Amino acid sequence: MTSASAPGKLILCGEHAVVYGRPAIAAPLGDLRAYAQIEPGGPGSGLGFIAPDLGESWTAAGQPEHPLSELARATLARLGQHEIDLTVRLRSDIPIASGMGSGAAIGTALVRALAAHIGVALAPEEVAALVYASERRFHGTPSGIDNTVVAHEQAIWFVRREPAPLIEPLTIAAPLLLVVGDTGVRSATRLPVGAVREGWRADPRRYEALFDQVGELVMRARLALATGDAPLLGALLDANQALLEQIGVSSPELERLTAAARRAGALGAKLSGAGWGGVMLALVTPKSQPAVERALREAGAARVLAATVPATGGA
Ligand code: MEV
Repeated sequence: MTSASAPGKLILCGEHAVVYGRPAIAAPLGDLRAYAQIEPGGPGSGLGFIAPDLGESWTAAGQPEHPLSELARATLARLGQHEIDLTVRLRSDIPIASGMGSGAAIGTALVRALAAHIGVALAPEEVAALVYASERRFHGTPSGIDNTVVAHEQAIWFVRREPAPLIEPLTIAAPLLLVVGDTGVRSATRLPVGAVREGWRADPRRYEALFDQVGELVMRARLALATGDAPLLGALLDANQALLEQIGVSSPELERLTAAARRAGALGAKLSGAGWGGVMLALVTPKSQPAVERALREAGAARVLAATVPATGGA
């Protein structure tokens, strides 16, 4: 039996604008993971999947167009394997459609487990490329940030570019303490991403101007991270939330949680991911953390968790 896992992710700032070529910053959620376990199947059994969290079990032959059947086939082709009898068990601690990258994590765990089973080492870029191709096929116009941060498992600066994205490790002078509040409202990434695309098509000047403002604050956030200026970073997160509201991807639940976090002493708070539901994050200090966690629960968060982004030397 072979197994592998992959982390969830949080976008610290820059979501949506990143689809349109502006920079964004994301970090892995190392403690919240998806797992893939591979067992050899009986001769002629083909490729089977068991995913209790998705409430599904299927075979690649029976559901060849299932996103994970396609991803497994593409991965096996890259690994030089075609006819293979395997059972893949998938499980995830990351709530689906919550903005924490469950799709990218499940896909990455699957690719890693297949590579480990065949005995081939794939570089993070290769893993990310396989998962990206799958996300592109099933989620419209992803920027690639989710699969990249999940495959690299470190905080990154990401800019969508052709032929390949710009990915840089970040200098983080002091660890970031984040509290994540889940609205409990599930929202598939492609829906708000599609709505933003429609808005951008209808009024490109307005949206390009909003994306420029997001890009500008993400650059300032990079400097704030490098200098360990948490109050400045908090203010930038608040500004990013205000722009996301104008972009049209916030929701009353997200705004209730971000407001509660700020009132309880967070340095800044914003939605994280695609929006309309899913999670928000708040930048806290060890002192304000308990009050912010309590305030989020009282404001109706379905789940509250703490996440630390470690300090790094960066590039
Ligand atoms: C989703 O985690 C982030 C978005 O910017 C979409 C994308 O980058 O593909 C909303």
